[in-house]
Amino acid sequence: KTIYLKDYRSPDFLIDKTDLHVVLTDDVTCVTATLQVRRNPATENKQAPLVLNGQDMILKDVSIDGCPVQNSQYVLSPETLTINEVPDAFALKTVCEIKPQENTSLEGLYRSRTMYCTQCEAEGFRKITYYLDRPDVLSEFTTTIVADKAQFPVLLSNGNLIDKGELDNGQHFASWHDPFKKPAYLFALVAGDLSVIEDTFVTCSNRTIDLKIFVEEKDLDKCDHAMASLKNAMRWDEEVYGREYDLDIFMIVAVDDFNMGAMENKGLNIFNTSCVLAKPETTTDMGFQRVEGVVAHEYFHNWSGNRVTCRDWFQLSLKEGFTVFRDAEFSADMGSRTVKRVEDVSLLRTLQFAEDAGPMAHPVRPPSFIEISNFYTLTVYEKGAEVVRMIHTLLGAEKFRQGSDLYFERHDGEAATIENFVAAMEDASGRDLSQFTRWYSQAGTPRITAKDSYDEASGIYQLTLTQSCPDTPEATTEEKQPFHIPVAIGLLGDAGNLAIHLQGTEPDHDTPDNTHKVLELTQAEQTFSFEKLPERPIPVLLRGFSAPVKLEFDYSREQLTAIMSRDDDGYSRWDACQKLAVAVIHDAMQAYRSGQPYIVDTLLAEAYRTILNDSSLDQAMVALMLQLPSEAYLSEIADVVDVEAIHFARQDVRKQLAVALEAELLHTYNSLTGKDKPFSTSAEAVAERSLKNIALSYLVHGEASSALALAQQQLQSATNMTDEISALSVLVNSDSEAAPAMAQQALADFFTRWQHEALVVNQWLVAQANCVLPEGLERVKTLMQHEAFDIKNPNKVRSLIGAFCNNNAINFHHADGAGYEFLADQIITLNELNPQIAARQLTPLTKWRKYDESRQALMCKALERILAEPALSKDVYEVVSKSLKGK
Ligand code: ARG
Ligand code: ZN
Repeated sequence: KTIYLKDYRSPDFLIDKTDLHVVLTDDVTCVTATLQVRRNPATENKQAPLVLNGQDMILKDVSIDGCPVQNSQYVLSPETLTINEVPDAFALKTVCEIKPQENTSLEGLYRSRTMYCTQCEAEGFRKITYYLDRPDVLSEFTTTIVADKAQFPVLLSNGNLIDKGELDNGQHFASWHDPFKKPAYLFALVAGDLSVIEDTFVTCSNRTIDLKIFVEEKDLDKCDHAMASLKNAMRWDEEVYGREYDLDIFMIVAVDDFNMGAMENKGLNIFNTSCVLAKPETTTDMGFQRVEGVVAHEYFHNWSGNRVTCRDWFQLSLKEGFTVFRDAEFSADMGSRTVKRVEDVSLLRTLQFAEDAGPMAHPVRPPSFIEISNFYTLTVYEKGAEVVRMIHTLLGAEKFRQGSDLYFERHDGEAATIENFVAAMEDASGRDLSQFTRWYSQAGTPRITAKDSYDEASGIYQLTLTQSCPDTPEATTEEKQPFHIPVAIGLLGDAGNLAIHLQGTEPDHDTPDNTHKVLELTQAEQTFSFEKLPERPIPVLLRGFSAPVKLEFDYSREQLTAIMSRDDDGYSRWDACQKLAVAVIHDAMQAYRSGQPYIVDTLLAEAYRTILNDSSLDQAMVALMLQLPSEAYLSEIADVVDVEAIHFARQDVRKQLAVALEAELLHTYNSLTGKDKPFSTSAEAVAERSLKNIALSYLVHGEASSALALAQQQLQSATNMTDEISALSVLVNSDSEAAPAMAQQALADFFTRWQHEALVVNQWLVAQANCVLPEGLERVKTLMQHEAFDIKNPNKVRSLIGAFCNNNAINFHHADGAGYEFLADQIITLNELNPQIAARQLTPLTKWRKYDESRQALMCKALERILAEPALSKDVYEVVSKSLKGK
């Protein structure tokens, strides 16, 4: 059944207070809910029946104001409890039994290893008790948890602890009260044998907040980074957004089995262990950054999500897009702004653009869905964040902040819409964003084509921009209207960035030195004229990736190297480098297809040599630029993905670069190795490690005789996981003769050393799943039988199945179709155990239209086999049926 945004109606009833009494026992968990219900004064239908959501529960008892409701007075369906005649205001009491220990969907109340925990967003609360499980019903929650004291000494819920005590038979209880009204999706409950690290934070108004991170005892040594990140995030939100924390206590709990990254439950955030635990020996730099980003993201939701929540799930990007934008800016302020931007843009252009071009494409605010869990997407999160970033660009930082203040002030304690957010931004800035809102309703990645001309005599330079947007499931290209697109530009001259004089506009976006400008493209085609240009400039377009679009301009390779070496925007230098590398790899692919040898364009090799030799350059920039475009990105920009050509051409280019630059790479590697500096996660230290490891990777894939020994040496002496796993990965992927034996030994040793650290074992699974050597599928199948694998644990599924199917194209897309059959088998298994994870793992098969005919047929066959399964979840059904539509 499809749910439509246009069908939204406000609720017939409100729940002012929610009182939960949860008794946990090994067999059944008994949930008694007492709800203070009243008719919504704003509703038209004063006779409406009370329809509560609920599933997978046994209803034991129901009463209204203390009087039992007879069987004949209510109707139970698999997903609802309907009571036909109810007073205008009453206390509804229900008693339900559930079995969290059998709940493998990891939605609602479930068991993860030794603890009980919850995940209610989006619609998991209805698996805990009968309720109005919708985000526009806000209630004041009181929760009492009863459990065995020895097994579950820690009992947590939202808000403040108001009571606790001992009970008979070794039981104990704790009662929590959350003074802030919230929708049910922000409810959380935890019971377990957990250890805690504690700290405090003093807010801007001098209130002291208790901060607690709960983990299993063995993980106590991995909480410092999350705690430091939390305190940084709390300070940053005060300084940058004027947002102070509201409760007296803020808790984080780490859970091993978790469908997503983390959850912003009021005062009690629940985290996937992978997004909270970190220490140098077990965690890569990427892992550290992820912890910092996710801790901040969930904390920031306290305002953008909790204090102001969403009216309905179509508004999901209201909280997610805004909060991703907030956490991205926070991370940029904590580390390297350029690196953070390049990483985010890279993800967006690779995976979100692919989503936009596929059968699940949807606007940032989807108009309909079958299962909302399928819309926690890169489009809603990452493109949603880009849309907020564009508002920031159009308004400027100051007006944007005023808009955000106004939004929080107007809607505090309410369930809001995207219109509310945009209206606050408009009202605070005086800008008209009506055309801009098309970003929320039109799907697809807009294309901009740029053409330029220069008149030497007058010094006038003209730039013509044309926009269009391809077909997506909900609208054809003809039906789409022009977007309002901020195009940040620079004009590069021989000696650097030139001053920009745009004819006929207010200079309101000028930077002090006048070398940046934000053009506002609002028409299908527009020409911008610049005057007083002493030379023909190279246009640097979409600086900082000012809009989530594909921009085409016919650069010469020399122009690209000029931008790479001379522009003052780090992102643009990286982007120019990517464009040059793409052009080179495309040449190599051409040669590969025609069976000709290919010699790498010296322009790229020499550009790289210059970068490697320039000791004045930011090492993070060097590492970023040396990174060749990924196979996934090369696939995204292709009309038809040529799996073999992309893989072998890219490898060939990498090898030739390694050979040509061997001396420089060795020098770089050696200069960054063996220094006895204490471990740090500073931007500089991270940059050094990333440059060192990319140099090692080139060397191992080149012909340097010492390379394997260097990798092995690094593997053995590494004191942090970044260096250790990088060395392991290059060994595992080396096709030199000596490598397989070394890799086997290294993998075995690694497992022996780390078998008790689940998150490290996951990285070990990833390293093998990503191995591009032949027989990849066999290796993955073998690992599925390994004691380290468990299909019920989402992190393991992502590490082995996910990594293989998404990042190992040459093996997954083997022409025999065995990869597709394998994935279909796993989806069918997961469909029963965990529908959310099943649907998510489907993504690579949904992209079948991008492949050649024979692969298309094999991929569709796999999809059709899934579709024919008798008991498909909504989650899997929606993705499979939409991806086969029109076939
Ligand atoms: N709101 C969470 C976050 O972005 C994501 C939780 C979504 N969970 C889910 N099962 N769909 O931080
Ligand atoms: Zn979020």
